[in-house]
Amino acid sequence: MPERQMPTNTNRDAAAMPGAQAATPSGWQLFRGEILHFLDDPGPATEGEAAHAFVHHADGGLLLENGVVRRCGAWAEVAPTAPAGTSSVDYSGRLILPGFVDTHIHYPQTDIIASPGRGLLDWLDRYAFPAERRFGDPAVAQEAAEFFCDELLRNGTTTALVFGTVHPQSVDALFSVALRRGLRIVTGKVMMDRNCPEFLRDTAQSSFDDSKRLIERWQGVGRLGYAITPRFAATSTEEQLAVAGALAREFPAVPVHSHVAENTAEVALIRELYPRSRSYLDVYDHYGLLKPHSVYAHGIYLDGNDRRRMAESATALSFCPSSNLFLGSGLLDLREVIDSGVRVGIGSDVGGGTSFSLLRTLGAAYQVAHLNGYLMSPLQAFYLATLAGAQALGLEAQIGNFAAGKEADFIVLDPAATPLLARRMATAQSLAERLFLWMTLGDDRAVAASHVMGKPQWTRA
Ligand code: GUN
Ligand code: ZN
Repeated sequence: MPERQMPTNTNRDAAAMPGAQAATPSGWQLFRGEILHFLDDPGPATEGEAAHAFVHHADGGLLLENGVVRRCGAWAEVAPTAPAGTSSVDYSGRLILPGFVDTHIHYPQTDIIASPGRGLLDWLDRYAFPAERRFGDPAVAQEAAEFFCDELLRNGTTTALVFGTVHPQSVDALFSVALRRGLRIVTGKVMMDRNCPEFLRDTAQSSFDDSKRLIERWQGVGRLGYAITPRFAATSTEEQLAVAGALAREFPAVPVHSHVAENTAEVALIRELYPRSRSYLDVYDHYGLLKPHSVYAHGIYLDGNDRRRMAESATALSFCPSSNLFLGSGLLDLREVIDSGVRVGIGSDVGGGTSFSLLRTLGAAYQVAHLNGYLMSPLQAFYLATLAGAQALGLEAQIGNFAAGKEADFIVLDPAATPLLARRMATAQSLAERLFLWMTLGDDRAVAASHVMGKPQWTRA
């Protein structure tokens, strides 16, 4: 990475954050439209029963100062409080929602999305590892990071927890692009020192040194955060998991991001590699890798003890339904996860997942949960993609809803994005019904705009 792109410590204060620059001469912005945001999990309930968990204004106003929410309420109450000189945008007829939070995605796998494999381990060998090899070239990483961030914004995702590759320069590239766009990105260099091709292998020591350097360079710069990223227990030696644990202890605010219990062949492999561990999750637990704000993707084959450990350690699970269907991994029992108090977010898991769109991912989540006898409500689905994702990442003080003081990342959904959506929306009676249509029939075309700290970073023509 060229020296001139290096962040300096001055970037760490909020005033230097790209989105915090005044969007208008006064720094005040006012948006009008239907507004929905969440305060809690609405559960698998109907709209009336879940009233405590969400806020809905049919004609709402969102007032920002320097990219931060000052007031959110009924238009008639908020509009008169806007100071003189406030800029105003009218999104009437559309729904304003907090930006989506994708709790698990691989940016270097963008180019292998929709590659059919014979299950996870075959898919990794055949597609993921060769694709990730190219990220040793900073120019490849830079170009891919630009495309990736554009794609997130087109889909309404304003915060994401992202896998890089084993190459530290893959992380530099993504952070530098995200910083320019004001996106909230948490990412890390993959730690991987066995059971993978030689060309992607680091060592316990080099992974420790590289991760530590990246944490010191990027953690807390603008809206960026680092995640300690052992790929999964199968591709790390015990020595490497131990150094990942040492990093997790040395940097208490830095979470761990990995995979767990995704596929039956993978679970069998972990049992062979770690015969003394009680379970797959227990391998991570043994090395101190369960900690608040950490996220493990999948968790289809966890047992009750595992779920209890995740809940008590405030370790979150990323539910990645499109990936689980595409790779034939299995059907997460969402009810068991929620009932055991585990924090859950939603993950696209591109390139195992088949879409960047969290609308489409929610549609898949509904279907997977349904197959396990759990009827996810549309309100609960949109909670999962917003506030629940923020809570999983420990970012609920900054993002996730429109409480005063939060960073104003928001998106605008179009009810008439496609002819079919428009036709079906015309017969929808309730808010829940309309949300269900967006998550069942919608995709990137339904996202009319994505604002990052108030600033429109993507607007559909
Ligand atoms: N487990 C280890 N690596 C990966 C990956 O790249 N994708 C998925 N879906 N699972 C994994
Ligand atoms: Zn993954």
